[in-house]
Amino acid sequence: IYIRQPEALGLGHAVLCAEPVVGDEPFAVILADDLIDAERSVIGQLVDARTALGGGSVLAVEDVPRADTMKYGIVSSSPLDERTSRMSHIVEKPGPEQAPSTLAVLGRYVLEPAVFAHLRTIPRGAGGEIQLTDAIARLVPEGTTYAYRYQGQRFDCGSKQGFLTATQHFARKAGYVL
Ligand code: G1P
Repeated sequence: IYIRQPEALGLGHAVLCAEPVVGDEPFAVILADDLIDAERSVIGQLVDARTALGGGSVLAVEDVPRADTMKYGIVSSSPLDERTSRMSHIVEKPGPEQAPSTLAVLGRYVLEPAVFAHLRTIPRGAGGEIQLTDAIARLVPEGTTYAYRYQGQRFDCGSKQGFLTATQHFARKAGYVL
């Protein structure tokens, strides 16, 4: 099933457009410009973490250089184990001085359907867009939103350099001599 987002109003709005198909169930969000080479798919890793936690929403995170915080949703969290932490705060694209940490959300989420109600009511956020991060921020006080340091190698295919690096990586893996 394909859903067309009729207007470019932001990632949160795009996710909201899928609500009639998703219904009242937990669901996964994959941002395809974050390409991740992993033994177990990152969504699979998030689902496993969610099962171990007994439910809730789980976001894939990794540490990024402080100079790059303005490219990502950034979380504050308290560790539960080596990879999992409970989120206490999330903010969309803060500058390096404002960022509460350097733990960045990458393009993989497993979310509770309660996020849809927040997506319907939040005001426009960073860049004048309806931000998924802002709706997730409203789930955080419930105490069941988690960050998970995934295993895998990420390629930022939203940049030409990242796209080229990913192409080389997967070509070499497929046996091509470059
Ligand atoms: C989106 C999200 C951001 C997230 C990023 C991951 O931003 O809004 O929170 O950290 O994806 O790639 P975008 O890259 O669409 O600007």
